[in-house]
Amino acid sequence: MPLVGYGIWKVPAENAAESVYNAIKLGYRHIDGAYDYMNSAEAGQGVKRAIDDGLIKREDIFITSKLWNNYHAHDHAIAAAHRENEAWGLGYLDLYLIHFPIAQKYIDPSEIKYPCFWEDAARTKVGTLVKVPMIETWKAIETLVQTDSNPQGILKSIGVANCNAQLLTELQSQAKIPLSVLQIELHPYLVQPQLVQMAQENGIAVTAYSSFGPQSFLELGSPRALKTEALLTHPVITKIAEKHGKTPAQVLLRWATQRDIIVIPKSNNTERLAQNLDSVSFDLAKEELEAISALDKGLRFVRS
Ligand SMILES: NC(=O)c1ccc[n+]([C@@H]2O[C@H](COP(=O)([O-])OP(=O)(O)OC[C@H]3O[C@@H](n4cnc5c(N)ncnc54)[C@H](OP(=O)(O)O)[C@@H]3O)[C@@H](O)[C@H]2O)c1
Repeated sequence: MPLVGYGIWKVPAENAAESVYNAIKLGYRHIDGAYDYMNSAEAGQGVKRAIDDGLIKREDIFITSKLWNNYHAHDHAIAAAHRENEAWGLGYLDLYLIHFPIAQKYIDPSEIKYPCFWEDAARTKVGTLVKVPMIETWKAIETLVQTDSNPQGILKSIGVANCNAQLLTELQSQAKIPLSVLQIELHPYLVQPQLVQMAQENGIAVTAYSSFGPQSFLELGSPRALKTEALLTHPVITKIAEKHGKTPAQVLLRWATQRDIIVIPKSNNTERLAQNLDSVSFDLAKEELEAISALDKGLRFVRS
């Protein structure tokens, strides 16, 4: 699984094919998508174009997608995974994550295609929670993993996002197919060292999302992000960046990747995409890693 991927949340569907194709041309070999991002089919078209143009083969690129909250019940999870795999149109998904450990009332996609956290099309009514244990969802997606006894499986590996150590332990104790990845919000304002250590010690790769902290949430008008000091201009980060002749974004990404944490920065800008990919070509000193980690305030922008 490539250490730097391209996250496509908030990449508009109408640009997703071009953006993904462009990212592949720049050298990205890992795309992080989700049903929730509403751009899987278009992103898949970008990958297909890159394959048709001979830039890559299918096996050269790692595609992640995620199961949305309304489809946690066993049969719904299986159907949703098939729909998502068909949307990408690439034969299989390399990684499929349970997006949140939250089960919401089932809404058939023919009624509302994109419920997000609501259950009415006008988005006035917050989705009702339902009692579906995570292990039921896990067992459902386990049946879709490609193995010697299930060669037709459409998923190469499975994992979870937004889970804590207790839930990981619980799932691991009952999983037949091991969890391969834990995807969590992780940046210098939310360092989570124990969770990272626990996952890595148990052979679960950690992927960090929202590596630039508040940056991603400014465009959503998040009051919490608006009142938080930007990481990209934070003096601790800019000073280290200057010393290495790198950008603050590259320092934030390297702070994670140097500790074997995968990153999936999102950008709608070619220059920044290239910059983000080129963030593993230098090393931070131990004291620099520690100074960045010391910015921790347990501050979360995605609250579930
Ligand atoms: N599992 C989950 O629940 C979950 C939740 C959130 C995100 N994710 C995944 O993680 C990915 C990344 O997280 P994210 O999208 O929240 O945030 P992010 O990658 O931390 O930040 C994106 C923001 O930073 C800007 N940016 C990107 N590269 C930059 C650079 N080199 N210099 C300055 N600014 C830069 C982008 O603007 P421009 O586009 O204008 O460059 C955008 O405003 C998502 O796309 C998604 O795939 C998963």
